[in-house]
Amino acid sequence: MTAIPLIVDCDPGVDDAVALLLAFAAPERLELLAVTTVGGNVPARLTARNARIIRQIAGRQAVPVYAGAEQPLVRAAEAASHFHGESGLGWMEPFEPDVPTAAGHAALAIVETVMARPAGTVTVAAMGPMTNLALAMRLEPAVVDRLAQVVVMGGARREGGNITASAEYNIFADPHSAQIVFSSGLPAVVLGLDATHQVRTTPERLAAIKALDRPAARIVAQLLEFSQDVERRLVGPEPPPLHDPCTIAWLLAPELFTAVPVGLSVETSSPLTLGHTAVEFRGTDPGGSAIRWVTKVDADGVYALLLEHLRG
Ligand code: RIB
Ligand code: CA
Repeated sequence: MTAIPLIVDCDPGVDDAVALLLAFAAPERLELLAVTTVGGNVPARLTARNARIIRQIAGRQAVPVYAGAEQPLVRAAEAASHFHGESGLGWMEPFEPDVPTAAGHAALAIVETVMARPAGTVTVAAMGPMTNLALAMRLEPAVVDRLAQVVVMGGARREGGNITASAEYNIFADPHSAQIVFSSGLPAVVLGLDATHQVRTTPERLAAIKALDRPAARIVAQLLEFSQDVERRLVGPEPPPLHDPCTIAWLLAPELFTAVPVGLSVETSSPLTLGHTAVEFRGTDPGGSAIRWVTKVDADGVYALLLEHLRG
């Protein structure tokens, strides 16, 4: 099985960091062409630094990290540091990584990376506000047909919102970019809260990660313990959902997920429902829709996959 050429677009962010560690731990399956970062959970200068920190911890400094959009396309930036800590990496002590960000804006890096490869080969895993990908599509529209697909963590239907009553954070943070991406015709697999809320870090699952006693596993355990603490303080007693790693898990083991063709539109103007994803199952022609919405996840399988790759 050949490795999937992949660009990870992210806003680390505690769960982005776990997703990056999983992706970095699967070099035989994922050919990481670049990591691109965006302002989101924490400001852009921190998300770029945090991606470089995780890259260094994973020992993958050859993978370029490109810093991208500091602001959403239209609306004002709205961070989520209450869920990720001021640094964006929870309780982890941040440090200045050895290797700097690569030259050039992330959006341009996406264009150059995708256009330099055969059509239909490069995948983007988008796990933050999709400003960089939307900008890339506007800078070079040919990117849409050149890309293989985008795997998105974002949106919500059955589960309601996690940043407002009706919107999930990544889409809420930049609804205009999300609408550009979802209306572009690019094949998309979308893991919204309907999917990620099925994947929760229970004490038993955390204990299994801790028991590995490996460097990356210790970092993941600390990140997930932070999420458990924040979830308990800000949301309620349920274990925290594992959002962004589900995009990487889908790439590594799509058989763990059930996805159905849908229509999907984003609310970009209503002050009350900004960022709402209107996910339409009815009357969607399976062959005609570019978007597949994940409805079911084998959560035990996702954690087994994470353990397998953290075992090193
Ligand atoms: O709603 C969850 C998403 O918002 C995740 O990508 C998390 O990192 C935050 O960005
Ligand atoms: Ca994220």
